[in-house]
Amino acid sequence: MTEAFTALESLSHRFPWPSQRPSVPAVPWVMDYGGRDLIRHLIAVRQPRVIVEIGAFMGGSVRQWLAMSPDIKVVAIDPWPQIEGPDPFWDSHPIGRLHTGQFREPDGLYLAFLATMWDHRNRVIHARGYGCDILPVLHAHGLRPDLIYIDADKRGEEISICDELFPEAIICGDDWLWCDGWCYPTQKPVADSARRRRRVLKTASNTWLIDDRPWTAAERMIWLRCLPQSFVRRFRAWMRARHGCDSSGNPVSPAKNGCDNSHQVNEA
Ligand SMILES: C[S@@+](CC[C@H](N)C(=O)[O-])C[C@H]1O[C@@H](n2cnc3c(N)ncnc32)[C@H](O)[C@@H]1O
Repeated sequence: MTEAFTALESLSHRFPWPSQRPSVPAVPWVMDYGGRDLIRHLIAVRQPRVIVEIGAFMGGSVRQWLAMSPDIKVVAIDPWPQIEGPDPFWDSHPIGRLHTGQFREPDGLYLAFLATMWDHRNRVIHARGYGCDILPVLHAHGLRPDLIYIDADKRGEEISICDELFPEAIICGDDWLWCDGWCYPTQKPVADSARRRRRVLKTASNTWLIDDRPWTAAERMIWLRCLPQSFVRRFRAWMRARHGCDSSGNPVSPAKNGCDNSHQVNEA
């Protein structure tokens, strides 16, 4: 625990919060696309103290983890990139439309995150950058997270880095059912990691979890409760693919539509 505390302390100097809250509106936007009860249940039972989240956006899921226990600290990674030009996903979402001007200001997303998470700043370290660049920094500072939640670029690039740097951590994430045309790009890297680690792959709706313990009855219940939603998500993905779109409504490049889903695993 002392080592974790030292690493967090050192990272809080490497990624300091500003001295004042940015004077922009908070954006309490939670992008929860289902199945997170699987993670909440795991947090309640195993009580991880240090969580790394890759793809924090406005801290929607970070707040969900923090709410589980006052002892949890989260390192939130995101590039909070500059938004420019139209985007079908942002522009069609009611909250995205509401904050469209704010987000397109210089550092709009980053400042919105800081303002939104201001009251949690003693329990959150915000590391601005891409997961593949930040994870080695966390490792070099001695951080050994208990849990890593990935909700980032859908291609699972960070998964093999996590396997290498943090073999003991439980890895989980979002986007299991995120579809790019006919392809589910998150599924192969997740299934590969579960095989490499010889761990159990659990899924519920959009959420996946590579666990070192077998399914419990409570987890099976969560999976069962999510089943109708999983079918709806698969159906919607299929409808979008027929119109040449990914799950965010963006057009898919033709090159991606011949993708190989042969790795697909049974959702149970
Ligand atoms: C779907 S949003 C995350 C939503 C958030 N977890 C929630 O529950 O509200 C995805 C985020 O991932 C970030 N992102 C994309 N690629 C990333 C990468 N390689 N490393 C870290 N963050 C990334 C994006 O900037 C975006 O903010």
